[in-house]
Amino acid sequence: MDRDVFIVGGGTIGLGIGFELVRRGTSVTIFERDTAGRGTSYQAAGMLAPDAEIEFEELELYGLNRESLRRWPDFADRVEAASDQSVDYRSEGTLIVADDRDAAEALKRLYEFQREQGLNVEWLTGEEAREIEPFVAPRLSAAVFAPSDHQVDNRRLVDALRVAFQAEGGTLHENAPVEAVVPDANAPAVRTTDGERVAARQIVVAAGVWSRSLDGLEPDAVPPVRPVKGQMIQLRRKRPFDLQHVVRGPEAYLAPKSDGRVVVGATSEEMGFDTTVTAGGLYELLEGAWEVVPGIQELPVDDTWAGLRPASRDHVPLVGRTTAPGVLMATGHYRHGVLLTPITAEEMARLIRTGETSDWIEPFSPLRFSEEESPLRSA
Ligand code: GLY
Repeated sequence: MDRDVFIVGGGTIGLGIGFELVRRGTSVTIFERDTAGRGTSYQAAGMLAPDAEIEFEELELYGLNRESLRRWPDFADRVEAASDQSVDYRSEGTLIVADDRDAAEALKRLYEFQREQGLNVEWLTGEEAREIEPFVAPRLSAAVFAPSDHQVDNRRLVDALRVAFQAEGGTLHENAPVEAVVPDANAPAVRTTDGERVAARQIVVAAGVWSRSLDGLEPDAVPPVRPVKGQMIQLRRKRPFDLQHVVRGPEAYLAPKSDGRVVVGATSEEMGFDTTVTAGGLYELLEGAWEVVPGIQELPVDDTWAGLRPASRDHVPLVGRTTAPGVLMATGHYRHGVLLTPITAEEMARLIRTGETSDWIEPFSPLRFSEEESPLRSA
């Protein structure tokens, strides 16, 4: 067996990197602890929303998010062509809404910042927002329309990526947890939980919240990634209720999918690996969603769950080489894993194949946690 690259983790990031490598002719094996694409990637909402999610102090991340969104349509086309499955890319845009005076003031500050940064956003009255999306609350005071923020169905995406990766010749081992990575400049290896040790040329850790649990790395190469819990509710669209845009309120967002699901999210909780769905979490979400789209009242509840976002210490991703010989990393994508899949996959594929990094990912190098000076720390 030709063992060029091993990827630890079969979520959207691991599958995406694998897909971009195999289609360029690199042999790739993915080791997934469970079923590929059934972790954080499956539990997310699939929003591709750099403009709505821009943060005052994270402009470098905004640039990466924006560039990844620019690459999304081509990436979706490639995955769909290779898998013969739709990922349900939708470009209606996002409505960010305010339901009282305080929320309207906060929204105004966000809007002014978005305009200063040159974003394509539009200030709307409540009435104008209802013209775009009739089911938003009649009493909404203001809204921002972000037409460039799109979405995919993240569940269809991971299923399509899984098929596309294998259709292009990738090898996927599921229910194959990796216990340790064994760094080595020429033949880094993984050790599986049944004790087998297998060597490759390069290893990529893309295990999301589980990236930190791998043995074998020196302390300065261990990614400082922790889980941040997000509870979610899935409603089922029932006529006459309809929703076409992602709607983001102060306390909850609603992401309508083409198959009739309406995904409502998400709490943000520091609870370790706990994934209990709680009454308080559901109450918070339903109240937050109902305040901005009251028509959800009559919708059936399909499902509830809690996912774990992989957050790094500085809340931006770790993408690139590590101090461990032969070991690279693509993890810590926190709230933006689905959005950042195309750029992470393409830039990691380039780094792995050519040894060349790019200006896009350089600021997000995992080495910033190992070195005194780093682009982000000195910024
Ligand atoms: N990006 C949405 C979330 O993290 O809940």
